[in-house]
Amino acid sequence: MEKMLVVLKPDALQRRLVGEILGRLERKGVKIAAMKMLQVDLPRAKKMYSVHKEKDFYEPLLKFITASPVIAMVAEGVDVIHIVRAMMGKTFGPDADSGTIRGDFGMSRRYNLIHGSDCPDSAAREIPIFFDEDEIIDYKLAEDTWVYSVIDR
Ligand code: RTP
Ligand code: MG
Repeated sequence: MEKMLVVLKPDALQRRLVGEILGRLERKGVKIAAMKMLQVDLPRAKKMYSVHKEKDFYEPLLKFITASPVIAMVAEGVDVIHIVRAMMGKTFGPDADSGTIRGDFGMSRRYNLIHGSDCPDSAAREIPIFFDEDEIIDYKLAEDTWVYSVIDR
């Protein structure tokens, strides 16, 4: 099954929205293959956002992601990247549709609650920045028999 990195950013923790966001992912049927809370240091932040190195928002972005602890996880599911990115909504709350995480909980054009890998290549690059292979657990959820149809599985 497809995997992606999801990070609940510092504003999600500070605003006590971790349970709400995790609950949405769980209720949708997204499987958590790994999860930890950590303070992102500057070297890790630079690795995570290396693709944005030349952008004018790069420095503020590093400040934001290192400002307070985050929850990092590996999310798993059939087509999970497409599904979680849709649940996240557009990059900033003011533009994001209601019903999405950013649309329902975000007012800012800097703080936006959640990061999700945007394609399988990004996921393959980003997951090892946060997790060793032995931290990603391969296990079965009994409920997946009913989350997916036989053809999906
Ligand atoms: P993410 O990578 O965090 O899942 O968000 P995204 O794909 O929706 O947005 P992306 O374009 O990859 O940008 C990464 C993060 O950089 C910050 N950003 N600031 N114009 C700006 O000031 C600006 N644009 C992007 C956001 O924190 C965004 O999530
Ligand atoms: Mg992105």
